[in-house]
Amino acid sequence: MMEGLVVRVDVLEAIRSRRSARAFLDKDVSNEDVATLIDSARWAPSAGNIQPWELIIVKKEHVKRQLVDAAQQSFIIEAPVVIVVCANESRSSQGYGVRGKTLYCIQDTAAAIQNIHLTAFSLGLGTCWVGAFREEDVARVLKLPRGIRPVAIIPVGYPAESPRPRRRRPVNQIIHYETF
Ligand SMILES: Cc1cc2nc3c(=O)[nH]c(=O)nc-3n(C[C@H](O)[C@H](O)[C@H](O)COP(=O)(O)O)c2cc1C
Repeated sequence: MMEGLVVRVDVLEAIRSRRSARAFLDKDVSNEDVATLIDSARWAPSAGNIQPWELIIVKKEHVKRQLVDAAQQSFIIEAPVVIVVCANESRSSQGYGVRGKTLYCIQDTAAAIQNIHLTAFSLGLGTCWVGAFREEDVARVLKLPRGIRPVAIIPVGYPAESPRPRRRRPVNQIIHYETF
């Protein structure tokens, strides 16, 4: 009972305290920590347990530089590791047709991405969900086969800044009882 309570508080604390990091220290991330991030992604829920995520781990400077170009976001280069999370549209469409391809595989992948962010936070690492990029350029740079769609570029490193929390919409603006 007590154990359950402790875990719940930790998760809430991570959810509330995580911030997007857009500047990183010149300090490596261990392979063990990268493995932990990848493992956390695997445990995300997915429609029909299809697990349509594909993760590309990028450490080479020249590949990172091309991702910077594709996203036009220079801070990506500062991160020692960049994880690009992709949705395997083919896997999801085999199970669920158009809904699988256009909706479930994005939802499943987003859940895996959020796991990575929260796990990184718990390890003292900073991350940012970079979603603004030219998809065709990322696909070309990473040699993604057809049906593999890049969803997020996640720079991972030790944060060099402590950003203030950004405003959240208050509960009374987002909640609707019974009907909209
Ligand atoms: C789908 C999505 C796309 C995003 N794209 C970018 C991006 O391209 N570049 C960036 O710096 N931040 C990006 N962000 C991060 C948001 O700006 C950030 O999460 C939001 O402002 C709240 O701040 P916080 O993460 O520090 O709480 C993205 C977040 C999401 C969920």
